[in-house]
Amino acid sequence: MSTWTPIGNAHDLQTELTHNLNGLKELDFDGKKIVLSFYEGQFGALNNKCNHMGAPLAKGKLKKGCVECPWHYWHFQHQTGEGVLTEMNRNYVANPGTVPTFPLKIENGTLFINLEGESERQKAEFKSSSNLAREVKREPGPLRVLGLSTTVMDPEYPRYSTSEDLLISALDRARAELGVETRTLKLAELNFRHCEGFYSKSERACTWPCSITKIDPNDQMIQVYENLVHWSDIVIVSTPIRWGNASSLYYKMAERLNSVQNRLLVEDKRLIKNKTAGFIITGGQDNIQSVAGEMLNFFGELGFVMPAFPYVAHSLGWSAEKMEANMDFVRSNQALHDGAFALVKRNVELAGQLVGSASGVSSVKTN
Ligand code: FES
Repeated sequence: MSTWTPIGNAHDLQTELTHNLNGLKELDFDGKKIVLSFYEGQFGALNNKCNHMGAPLAKGKLKKGCVECPWHYWHFQHQTGEGVLTEMNRNYVANPGTVPTFPLKIENGTLFINLEGESERQKAEFKSSSNLAREVKREPGPLRVLGLSTTVMDPEYPRYSTSEDLLISALDRARAELGVETRTLKLAELNFRHCEGFYSKSERACTWPCSITKIDPNDQMIQVYENLVHWSDIVIVSTPIRWGNASSLYYKMAERLNSVQNRLLVEDKRLIKNKTAGFIITGGQDNIQSVAGEMLNFFGELGFVMPAFPYVAHSLGWSAEKMEANMDFVRSNQALHDGAFALVKRNVELAGQLVGSASGVSSVKTN
């Protein structure tokens, strides 16, 4: 014989749920958590755990008869628990599955729930995992240097950038003199979304591959992820100084890289191993140490190691700022270009030791 547990006065619950801003109420029966809903004259009761990554559904919202999960916005029909394919999950889920439901009844004005009548959870079926989610494994071959230019500019109207010029000339030389492979990504040419703060909801909501990458097939941050996590042994980041900070595109990228660092925190899996990083920083005014300090800290937190003297920089300083002259100065200054190349070389030497011959790196001659 089934046991019915009273929840409360049906009319009062209906009023409460109708006026409650998110339209949902969390019920707790000795630790069994349920999300109660009311839509178009019907109550619904679902297990409070989302089918995706277990977020508490009661913290979400009721939208058009569906409970919307607070973490990644999957939808579940509020009475049947059936998952719905939406633009938030259709790129990586074949079937969102079904969240368990509980029978409800109203007797003499009281709403009852049958806690023993919980239906079975049907797990979500994911499409074959994205290529990005594959195991991180270094493929054999020469050392690989990724250049990341964070200079902001309109790619339709490219302009001279001191930091980008030093980066490209150093990579060209490294290819010719050190026998490494190089790739350059200019963030200004990539169309990618800002981090939307999934981490702030819960560290488990900030996933690898990034939640936004899963949602939006047009988001080009995937190129940074692919090359930084899977392809490169060495990452050289160039940035201008803007009001005492790295470029805004640098920060936009850094926020999206949280999912890389978070993988360690949540799953104890390190994505960045045996990789080195170096930085090229230029500006019209000073604040180099502060910008370098932030970049060193962040890339260290991602798992990169740095060689001795991990950045090169150039600044004219407050009293000598004259940007047209600065461009000519950097373009023709051999010492700066040599310095940028020497930075790459230090990284190549260290990465060669870290990666070792076991991974197909025969020997990297840097002298
Ligand atoms: S959509 Fe619910 S945990 Fe991701």
